[in-house]
Amino acid sequence: MPEVMTGKIQDEQRQGEVYAPFENDPNLYKKRFYIESYGCQMNFADSEVVASILNKEGFGATRNLEEADLIFINTCSIREKAEQTVRKRLTEFRKLKEKKKGMLVGVLGCMAERLKSKFLEEEKLVDIVVGPDAYRALPGLVTEAEGGQKAVNVLLSRDETYADISPVRLDSNGVSGFVSIMRGCNNMCAFCVVPFTRGRERSRDTTSIIGECRDLFEKGYREVTLLGQNVDSYYFVEEETGNVITFARLMEAVAGISPLLRVRFSTSHPKDITDEVLQVMARHDNICKYIHLPLQSGSTRVLQLMNRTYTREWYMAKVDRIREIIPGCGLSSDLIAGFCTEEEDDHRDTLAVMDYSRYDMSYMFFYSERPGTLAQRRYQDDVPDETKKRRLQEIVDLQNRLSLESNKRDIGKSFTVLIEGDSKRSEKDWMGRNSQNKVIVFPKEQYNLKKGDYVTVQVQDCTQATLLGKIIQ
Ligand code: SAH
Ligand code: SF4
Ligand code: F3S
Repeated sequence: MPEVMTGKIQDEQRQGEVYAPFENDPNLYKKRFYIESYGCQMNFADSEVVASILNKEGFGATRNLEEADLIFINTCSIREKAEQTVRKRLTEFRKLKEKKKGMLVGVLGCMAERLKSKFLEEEKLVDIVVGPDAYRALPGLVTEAEGGQKAVNVLLSRDETYADISPVRLDSNGVSGFVSIMRGCNNMCAFCVVPFTRGRERSRDTTSIIGECRDLFEKGYREVTLLGQNVDSYYFVEEETGNVITFARLMEAVAGISPLLRVRFSTSHPKDITDEVLQVMARHDNICKYIHLPLQSGSTRVLQLMNRTYTREWYMAKVDRIREIIPGCGLSSDLIAGFCTEEEDDHRDTLAVMDYSRYDMSYMFFYSERPGTLAQRRYQDDVPDETKKRRLQEIVDLQNRLSLESNKRDIGKSFTVLIEGDSKRSEKDWMGRNSQNKVIVFPKEQYNLKKGDYVTVQVQDCTQATLLGKIIQ
């Protein structure tokens, strides 16, 4: 069954190689590594930490698989399909390995953590298995593997945040950068494997976050996205002063770097996003007016089974509060169709809350049972596949309508747009985003602009996924 999304590219499908633009002098590095990433933005950010660790040890990145001495695949376990994709990719790596003696294959990330040394039994070509908290051990593990041993480190940590490691930006547009502010998750949503693959929640040192954001700004970046599974529970106590830094304060500090630096964040758990966060967003022009607020289900009964700890009414009140404090705020969601025991009524409740929330876009999935989760242990995955598929399609159809309506409401409005690069279709057009995270495409015309510039664009037309506009200033 295909998983479906609308509008923007679903993170899990943002697959493919990433590339560290290191100098191409072959004498500069003793070995070359290739790294491919799957899963959420946090996993992509981790690959940048891995690249930095390997780089320091004298390994250079390559974009060319054939040239690599080491192949790393940074994996995701969130749904069964994500794991199948990785397995398929590994069979392709096997063919390469047969051709090239001495080449090593390493599995990183959530699937490595979930399967641990079982990976080595199941996939004979794998030499190295490293969980998300053990990347500092990578150079040592590579040496072990080079000596002919299989190397595994899947220890989870209570305090590792890689705070001091300055990530090597991979495959970046040079305008938007992603900065991890915390790791792990303490939330135990019944369907979710993340607490098991990423361990306990911990927040990264505030000073190192601000340092990384400032560094990005100085390198020409104009947008940072603060990343965590649940950013609103960011909590850090400064050693010297004893000051408590909440997410609201952190965001304020990052926004203070420069009015030209946009601040975004992902993801907010509806139970944890506070009025204080909303007020800080409203107060600062450079904090983007966009919230990803996953609903998962619109049925209070199903939400309870999911252990999401809010009701449909509570969620809807949160949406009201957002619209009240931040008029015109962009809103998006994650939705799961066909969770255990879901009935038609529950499904209709989901559609109704979607309608109420008027999401600009959503990531939509059917439920995929994950080993070891609360749901797998406690409930039956009892909604038939065809029903899951049909309900998902109804969710997608509704979202498509909501996205189009939302875009149509923007026709005639003007937005400040940060230029990210050429549009995919034509070099004659720019592509950028407004504060609400909507993609806007517009002709370059005679203006001498470059990526990273801000420009005012009036929306003249739209599709379901994109606004089409014209520069007015
Ligand atoms: N921390 C984020 C979500 C991370 S996972 C949050 O709390 O919102 C991204 C999305 O994947 C989730 O929001 C959920 O919609 C979906 N997801 C997670 N586990 C899933 C499963 N077992 N089956 C289907 N979708 C799942
Ligand atoms: Fe998973 Fe829930 Fe944590 Fe998100 S908040 S990562 S869905 S357990
Ligand atoms: Fe996947 Fe792990 Fe992220 S399971 S979604 S890569 S935290």
